[in-house]
Formats: sequence, structure tokens, C-alpha cells
Amino acid sequence: KRKIIIDTDPGQDDAVAIFLALASPEIDVQAIIAVAGNVPLHHTVENARRVLEMAGRPDIPLYAGAARPLRRTQTTAEHVHGPSGLDGIDTSWSLSMPVQTQSGVDYLIGAIRAAEPKELTLVMLGPLTDLAIALTLAPDIAGRLREVVLMGGAWSELGNITPAAEFNIYADPEAADIVFSAGIPLVVLPLDVTHQCLGLPERLTAMRENGNRCSVAAADMLSFSERFDLKKYGWPGAPLHDPCTIAWLLNPEIFGGRTVNVSIETGNGLCAGMTVVDWWRVTDRTPNALFLRDVDSDAFYSLLTSRLATLP
Ligand code: BDR
Ligand code: CA
Repeated sequence: KRKIIIDTDPGQDDAVAIFLALASPEIDVQAIIAVAGNVPLHHTVENARRVLEMAGRPDIPLYAGAARPLRRTQTTAEHVHGPSGLDGIDTSWSLSMPVQTQSGVDYLIGAIRAAEPKELTLVMLGPLTDLAIALTLAPDIAGRLREVVLMGGAWSELGNITPAAEFNIYADPEAADIVFSAGIPLVVLPLDVTHQCLGLPERLTAMRENGNRCSVAAADMLSFSERFDLKKYGWPGAPLHDPCTIAWLLNPEIFGGRTVNVSIETGNGLCAGMTVVDWWRVTDRTPNALFLRDVDSDAFYSLLTSRLATLP
């Protein structure tokens, strides 16, 4: 079983990624850390609790991570995810699962140090703030991680929050710079991949037709967040981002990419938060990431939909 910690800013697509991980016997979710991102921290923490309760897993420890980016003014994305971050489902029931009192960053450092070397995988689904703080406080953890699998950045698809930048990197470029410079094996699922994973009507219908609570919730959430994307892109379905990370862990053969250097633009100009990907290897910068570009989107959706069916 692959031991993972998920750092996330739910977010409908984050919620579906958490469902996919919990539905997969190959993966052992050690803990969830909620970070500010799509919506402010109090919402992402609450949403993570809701997702875990829906999946019948209130036993998984949940921690609160960073409330704001390292240095930038906070950027959120209520225009995509709704004011709660999890619009599209009933969010009125009262939550009972606890939030751990230890901070997410302290937990992360302790968990990485306590694990066997190269045992733990981190899955990062939001801004990279928590890991950047952890690496700054405890540089020794970099060499102990198996890998970091993250959704963020773009090469040929460039930006979704600015013309040049993807949301998770743009929200905290200084944090991304720390993570991409840390020497940790990185696997990057960028917009180039996620823009191929469109939530076509027949795919969402198949998900809903599973009939179980979590599949129906996933279809409802994705139908909500896609309203904005359908208008924005004019595509027949909205891109599905964060679950690609878990799908890569489960079935890397359905993805294609190459190991290249990815550097982060930390300036303040038009390209703030851009991932500068040396795809053609035109520099001598050391490759630091497996940067994926291709995906078999039918295989991705059939994996996702069949796994969701196994949840409550
Ligand atoms: C990323 O930004 C968020 O809105 C999504 O949850 C995803 O992690 C896509 O750019
Ligand atoms: Ca996210």
C-alpha cells in the first residue's frame, strides 16, 4: 500500500480526488491537511470534514494548514467553486468529526521524520504553502520523501487564473519556488493534462448512475463547478484537475510526459506564478520534475467512476 498525505483546498475537484484516494485499496491515506486556496481556510477545513464524513472516513486525521500565502496577497476562486468552495451539494448538515489541534505544518514535519526514508508520498492539490513552510523549518525532510505528486502549473495550456499562470502556483509562487527547488522527486499534473479530462455529459451521467451517495455528490459538485468553465472555455465539458494526481498513483501508464526542469516565475509582472517548463531542454538547468502532458481520458474517467462506486 502506498502511504500518502493529501494537502488540499477543497474545492469540488479536490473533494473528488479525496474520494478517489479513499476508494482505492492500493492507497493508504495517513492524513489530510486543509490549506487556504480556492476559498479561505475555515471553509477548506469545513469542506474537508464534509468530504471525509460523506466517504464514511471521519477516522482519518484532519489538520489545518496555512491560512495565507507566504508573501502574496491572498487570491481565492469563489467564482469557480461558489462561496463555500463546495457548492453543488447539500452543505447544511452539521459536522461532527474533529480537527486535530496540532498545526498541519507541524504534523507534516513530524510525520515525514517518523516514516521510513522514502516511504511517504505527498499529494498536493492546492497552493504549496504548507510544504514550503515545512521545508524551510525542517530542510532534512526533503531527502526523506518518496515523492510529491502535485496538481499545478502548465506548459502549452498556460494560465487559468492569469494568461500566464495556473491557480495553485499563482496563489503562492514563492512557496512553489521552494518546493520546485528542494530536490524532491516531483510529479506534476498540469493544465496540459487536466484540460484533456473533460467532464462530458455522458461521463457525469455514468458517475451519477452509480447511485451511491459519493458518486451522486461527485456528479453534483462537478456539475456545479463546470458552469463557470463551460462558459469560459466553450468546451463540451469542464476540465477535471485534482483527481489526476491520484489516478497517476493508481495507473501511471495512462499518462505520458518527460522529466524536465520546471522553474517558477516569482516576479510581479505579467508572468507572476508561471511555470517555466524546459520541455525542449534548451537550458542546462537540472531536470527536477516528471512533467506530464498526455492522458488517456477515457481510461481516467472509467477508473474514477468505477472506484467511486465502491464508496458509501
Ligand atoms: C486548481 O485550482 C483549483 O481551483 C482546483 O482545485 C485545482 O487544484 C486548478 O488550477
Ligand atoms: Ca485544488
